[in-house]
Amino acid sequence: MARMTEKIKELFKKRPVVSLATASKGGIPNVVAIGAKKILDDETILVSDQYFDKTLSNLRENPTAAIAFWDKNEGYQLKGTVTVETSGPRYEETVRWIDDVARQLELPLKSKRAVIITITEIYSITPGGSAGRRIA
Ligand SMILES: Cc1cc2nc3c(=O)[nH]c(=O)nc-3n(C[C@H](O)[C@H](O)[C@H](O)COP(=O)(O)O)c2cc1C
Repeated sequence: MARMTEKIKELFKKRPVVSLATASKGGIPNVVAIGAKKILDDETILVSDQYFDKTLSNLRENPTAAIAFWDKNEGYQLKGTVTVETSGPRYEETVRWIDDVARQLELPLKSKRAVIITITEIYSITPGGSAGRRIA
């Protein structure tokens, strides 16, 4: 497991959208945009699945993911293992959260699944000498 620092968590929260990459069992990559994301703790990210298609297929056959996010010149990459929840407190809370967002935005959003990413590795993607360096 790898722990996010306060700086990494602040940047993750600040960015409205992050990139989420998955891969099929055969190694075909896929990357999507994610706006509905939360930090559960220093080692755990939650994403609401509303529209996953290839992403969900990939997670079912290869439950690993990478997330990248950045602001100006500073960026991080989180890698981790994934579990997909369709019941239980985290699932229920995510449904309520997205129902609230849907009401506020007057959009027909529905959370189908809570996708839990347990962070195993953290890298810097900031350009320069530390680019690509593992930091946790
Ligand atoms: C700005 C933006 C934010 C998005 N946020 C989410 C999200 O939080 N949850 C979700 O399920 N899909 C979200 N999507 C849709 C996914 O990026 C993607 O279209 C969907 O997973 C289908 O692609 P796939 O077949 O590669 O999985 C968002 C798309 C955009 C452009």
